Amino acid sequence: MFQAAAKAQSVASTLSQAVLLSIRHYCKKTPTKLRVSEALLGAEWGAHVKIQGWVRSIRHQKVNLFLHVNDGSSLQSLQIVAASHLNDPLLTFGSAVEVTGVLKESPHRKQPVELEADEIHVIGECNPVDFPFKIKERHSLEYIRQLPHLRCRTNAFSSLLRVRSEATTAIHSYFKENGFVQIHTPIITSNDCEGAGELFQVVPSHPENEEDENFFSVPAFLTVSGQLHLEVMSGAFTRVYTFGPTFRAENSQSRRHLAEFFMVEAEISFTQCLEDLTRVMEDMFRSATEQVMAHCAEDVDLFHKHVTPGHRDTVDAILKKRFPVVTYSEAIDILNRSSQKFAFPTNWGCDLQTEHEKYLVKHCGNIPVFVTDYPYDLKPFYARDNQDSPEHTAAAVDLLVPGVGELCGGSLREERLDLLRARLKEAGLEDTYSWYLELRHFGSVPHGGFGLGFERYLQCILGVDNIKDVIPFPRFSHSCLL
Ligand code: 4AD
Repeated sequence: MFQAAAKAQSVASTLSQAVLLSIRHYCKKTPTKLRVSEALLGAEWGAHVKIQGWVRSIRHQKVNLFLHVNDGSSLQSLQIVAASHLNDPLLTFGSAVEVTGVLKESPHRKQPVELEADEIHVIGECNPVDFPFKIKERHSLEYIRQLPHLRCRTNAFSSLLRVRSEATTAIHSYFKENGFVQIHTPIITSNDCEGAGELFQVVPSHPENEEDENFFSVPAFLTVSGQLHLEVMSGAFTRVYTFGPTFRAENSQSRRHLAEFFMVEAEISFTQCLEDLTRVMEDMFRSATEQVMAHCAEDVDLFHKHVTPGHRDTVDAILKKRFPVVTYSEAIDILNRSSQKFAFPTNWGCDLQTEHEKYLVKHCGNIPVFVTDYPYDLKPFYARDNQDSPEHTAAAVDLLVPGVGELCGGSLREERLDLLRARLKEAGLEDTYSWYLELRHFGSVPHGGFGLGFERYLQCILGVDNIKDVIPFPRFSHSCLL
């Protein structure tokens, strides 16, 4: 009995060794594909792995070849150590490679792990002489901006894209955690929500007859804001939001305007006052920024150390304090008491210009500041009339932030049918917005919302001066590359 058991055990152990050997053999043949960020975690020491990516640096020594390979999964690249016989003349800075080998603990303090290569394949060649980026050179944002088809190959722009992606996730998470329903508002619309006439018209490119030309039967445009569609939904959902591209035909080359930008918009029903909106704006800003700082620390650091040195202090200060609130009238007083000479007028009734916004932010301690209750005539038809105010103002609010100026614009919406009708009539828009008026007939409630310019948000947290440097493919007047 005992002998039989011992024999069975020995057979089992021989078998399991054979299985292990064949697994190892198999693993050697088919290495595990890892992303660079996974390899860098160091959990796979001793594993036979395959890495795919682009060569960010290359150094030859007597017996070894050292490469850094990056695949976009993290700012850090993986160091590859290879015997010099694996060198290939096509293995150059910028080339695309596939490397297999064994992950080892690195003797260098700077990297936890390195890959000892047993095979290197060049998948895509890159002539380093023609390649517009040079090894070990830190190219300026202005320079890489001229190469929209290649700039994702630089550390700075790939960091920006990871931050942008994380910030998008963080904003969606904020809304999900706070009970907002996401609405896909249309890109093509027949209304001009802001009434500023900055619309791009949508027409077929090759109309074959008059009917084609009149494709939608009404003039149709690329949306300037999803607000009115969110307002429709706020008749059935107390909290809705949208996050998508918006378009403005503003003939501007400024550092904070694009013809195509992404806007985060929220609409909240049963609002009592502007504070119901400012609370959401501030909480969303804070929660998204904290998530980005925690999940993209290295990428944010790259900006705060090398691209916009010192900006980290600004962001820390922003996150520490509550955002102050001043009324438009108080803001005008602050501007008029200032010793600074402004290019644009600062009398009551004037729209605040970037120079005014930046001054107000500085005046409030270089942290974001809410400006409320703007002159009624400055705001679009939907803004709620503050009827009880001595000066004629609307319940509207902008959030101004360091370095950028206006980041968010919002308001309570005019829910009172008679006031809304009178304003639309005055603007000759009563027929165009008959459906909007009708919303006020059927279970209408006080509501309000806001829009946040996503690129301006990224400028604000990273300290980037030019909006064209925080969007993958910038569109602005006289430029539509790619
Ligand atoms: O202040 P705006 O025009 O507000 C609206 O469109 C409202 N309908 C939003 C709402 O209440 N749902 O735009 C909102 C934000 C601005 O504060 C600014 O950050 C950004 O959108 N923005 C631009 N960003 C880049 N380029 C442009 N041309 C922009 N125009 C506005």
